[in-house]
Amino acid sequence: MKHYTSIHDIDNIKAWVEDAKALKQDPLKHIELGKNKTIGLLFFNSSLRTRLSTQKAALNLGMNPIVMNVSGDAWGIEFGDGTVMNGNTAEHIKEASAVVSQYCDIIAVRAFPTLTDKVKDESEHVMNSFKKYASVPIVSMESATGHPLQGLTDAITIAEHTKVTKPKVVLSWAPHIKALPHAVANSFVQAMQKMDVEFVIANPEGYNLSPEITGDTPIIHNQEEAFANADFVYTKNWSSYNDYGKVLNTDSSWTITKDKLGEAKFMHCLPVRRNVVVEDAVLDSDSSLVIEQANNRTFAAQLVLKKILENNK
Ligand code: CP
Repeated sequence: MKHYTSIHDIDNIKAWVEDAKALKQDPLKHIELGKNKTIGLLFFNSSLRTRLSTQKAALNLGMNPIVMNVSGDAWGIEFGDGTVMNGNTAEHIKEASAVVSQYCDIIAVRAFPTLTDKVKDESEHVMNSFKKYASVPIVSMESATGHPLQGLTDAITIAEHTKVTKPKVVLSWAPHIKALPHAVANSFVQAMQKMDVEFVIANPEGYNLSPEITGDTPIIHNQEEAFANADFVYTKNWSSYNDYGKVLNTDSSWTITKDKLGEAKFMHCLPVRRNVVVEDAVLDSDSSLVIEQANNRTFAAQLVLKKILENNK
């Protein structure tokens, strides 16, 4: 594996989950592996967990992290080929990516979708441009269509908390006031499709994710029906895929409540809007795994960086 930009970069998710659990037991075991290596974390968008957990992961491997808010602090980057750069962009990705490659042994990038231009978003033009023009490995810290560090984290968390041979996992849409990306949901779907779980998606009409992502996974438009006998309810809002980037529904009857959850464990990638997406009684209960999930972000990132360092010795 050179780059990590998709759940499909995981060759054996069960083995990766076991490796991540081992790292969690002894986080500093490979502190020499990243000695004198630098990782650049480039953020086009806000972050709390990804920013801190990826730095922590790098530090646990002995690496030196450099962090930059690209949108605020760098020159505006041009991604178009052949563009006459007489507008707001001052530096082309060809130079930017090549230059950062000289300072860093790994480059990690966060770049959200436009949610207005489906074709552009699905082309993953930012992540793929970094991959094309960098001379070092690229790690996605969430792109237009995927959040593979989060998806790996979620697989680890479910594996840690599974008490039956084949748990039932539900991905449930929940309301939100803003148009949000599909990335977290997409990567969660892809991760669950690789796991030994019974997996269904619950969302209102008009909110089906890309059929290329969902494939054969059942999609149920009745939340109560979907939640029956669930062991894990993973909740996330996303905007419409078909009516691309639109908020069609803020129906609070899809908010996650303690009653609906029953005996299931609650998961969410965070940040989460309390009493919009999920009620306080869920987040403040023992059913919630959200803090443990956030902790596992470090070990998912650490495993990915370790594999890249080992592959590029
Ligand atoms: N879950 C997640 O990616 O959190 P941040 O947006 O805070 O990094």
